[in-house]
Amino acid sequence: MTANTPVRGAGRALVVGASSGIGAALVRRLVAEGYSVAAVARRRELLDDLARDLSDAATLSGGRILVRAHDAARAHEVPELFAALVGELGGLDLLVYAAGIMPKVGPAEYDTEKDLDQLAVNVGGCIAWCNAAARLFQTQRSGTIVGISSIAGDRGRKGNPVYCTTKAAMNTYLEALRNRLAEHGVHVTTIKPGFVDTDMTKGLPGLFWLISADRAAELVLRAARGRANVRYVPRRWWLVGSVIRCIPSFLFKKMNV
Ligand SMILES: NC(=O)c1ccc[n+]([C@@H]2O[C@H](COP(=O)([O-])OP(=O)(O)OC[C@H]3O[C@@H](n4cnc5c(N)ncnc54)[C@H](OP(=O)(O)O)[C@@H]3O)[C@@H](O)[C@H]2O)c1
Repeated sequence: MTANTPVRGAGRALVVGASSGIGAALVRRLVAEGYSVAAVARRRELLDDLARDLSDAATLSGGRILVRAHDAARAHEVPELFAALVGELGGLDLLVYAAGIMPKVGPAEYDTEKDLDQLAVNVGGCIAWCNAAARLFQTQRSGTIVGISSIAGDRGRKGNPVYCTTKAAMNTYLEALRNRLAEHGVHVTTIKPGFVDTDMTKGLPGLFWLISADRAAELVLRAARGRANVRYVPRRWWLVGSVIRCIPSFLFKKMNV
């Protein structure tokens, strides 16, 4: 994923949040390209299904998948797990943090436990995994980190205050990491998807411009390979984000977005 890493084949990637949706689609694409991929999430049975599904593709491409059950809220487990997975992969070129939760929140609900769960997975897990990758990539002077954030982080929305907060935190953290690592030959890409057809959006009202997880994965990899800093996926969401960021607060608080 960097100038000195082959674009196809022989790459080594670690995807956190790989059991479904965008993360699983990324694993499929990377293995089909010949990458050795470590796929991490809580639902071990889905990871095993994914590995089974990919066995023919892996044989054809020379790629490989290894799976590991892990709860991203358990940040203290990350350094040891990261080291073990990198050891099994024989090194690392790409880390994707795709794990995320967006629980339903009622209009009169202020549930601190639920809110802190989102912080632990969407922010705590992201920091733990990206820090581990940053340490390695800075030392080896190569590597790419991709964080799957959201257009939801562009403003504080009444629908799910803490989900927006976690994505805004991701955006700032990933920007700082990008600025810190640039001089060491390491690139960090922040992805802000619009609506993607995954478990997370199932049954949600008002979806539009919905794309498949596979299409999202294709665009994520394109952005990372093009060394994009921040990329809306698909790109037309940039316009929506730009408009939304400009709406004055006195109007925004009356809107149901
Ligand atoms: N779908 C959209 O429209 C959309 C839009 C903007 C941004 N995003 C972001 O895209 C990312 C991927 O979401 P998705 O749409 O692909 O939804 P998804 O199918 O629900 O995928 C979420 C992934 O995160 C993993 N995950 C959740 N909690 C975890 C935990 N505690 N530890 C480890 N892994 C955990 C899940 O695996 P397990 O449950 O097996 O742990 C799953 O693999 C998320 O960060 C989401 O916020 C999605």
